[in-house]
Amino acid sequence: MSDEPRVLGTREGYDLWATTYDTMGNWLLALEEPEVDRALGPVAGSDLLDVGAGTGRHAIRLAAQEARVTALDFSEEMLAKALAKPGAERVRFLLHDVARPLPFADHSFDRVLSALVLEHIQVAALPAFFEELGRVTRHGGRIVVTAMHPAMFVKGISANFRDEAGVQLRPRSYTATVSDYVMGALVAGLNIVALSEHQVGERLAEQFPRAGKLLGWPALFVMILSPRVSSEATNPRPVNR
Ligand SMILES: C[S@@+](CC[C@H](N)C(=O)[O-])C[C@H]1O[C@@H](n2cnc3c(N)ncnc32)[C@H](O)[C@@H]1O
Repeated sequence: MSDEPRVLGTREGYDLWATTYDTMGNWLLALEEPEVDRALGPVAGSDLLDVGAGTGRHAIRLAAQEARVTALDFSEEMLAKALAKPGAERVRFLLHDVARPLPFADHSFDRVLSALVLEHIQVAALPAFFEELGRVTRHGGRIVVTAMHPAMFVKGISANFRDEAGVQLRPRSYTATVSDYVMGALVAGLNIVALSEHQVGERLAEQFPRAGKLLGWPALFVMILSPRVSSEATNPRPVNR
């Protein structure tokens, strides 16, 4: 049988993936989750937005930590999985395509998370995407963006799963470089607070044998960003001239 992957539209792909997304033993999710917690810091009492929340993997557990969570995604099937989970009632879930402006007023959130969505945004659209994340974040707030590391594209890997017949399906991704992501954030006027890259380590490879072939390879890219305070606020003009 040919193992040629079949590329699907991003939304169509996730609508199909929804059935197995939480149960397929995805090692990237295991690598990513503790990094999201580290990057977000304490969330209790914060207004938090999860952009591309999927099956609510982060949104529901962050709501359980007393964050007031709003979560959006454009896949009805991923959201249906999220809504069926215990704790979902604590999250405000919305159907929304991030190709359109976010449906929130400026400075609405203390924390904005976008987990493993970036590879599905066309490179030319990255600045607009980051700009929207910045617009809805309060001054002093924090934006956490995680992505499959662009080094994975070098190996020919992008988000994928198998259907019941064993055919590899790939919701459409867009090959990008680390500098595409970094420049997207900078062009959007965001501050880079921290960047980090995470490899497949031995423990992860033991836990998830499929990850073994990537031992030592960069698999995850994490950006911590903040909205830039206007130059007027950082460099106040003297008033007594
Ligand atoms: C790899 S999943 C990540 C889901 C969740 N953030 C997590 O980490 O488990 C990527 C998600 O991004 C969503 N997505 C991709 N493009 C999107 C778009 N243009 N608007 C809204 N959601 C999008 C998909 O529907 C999918 O649920």
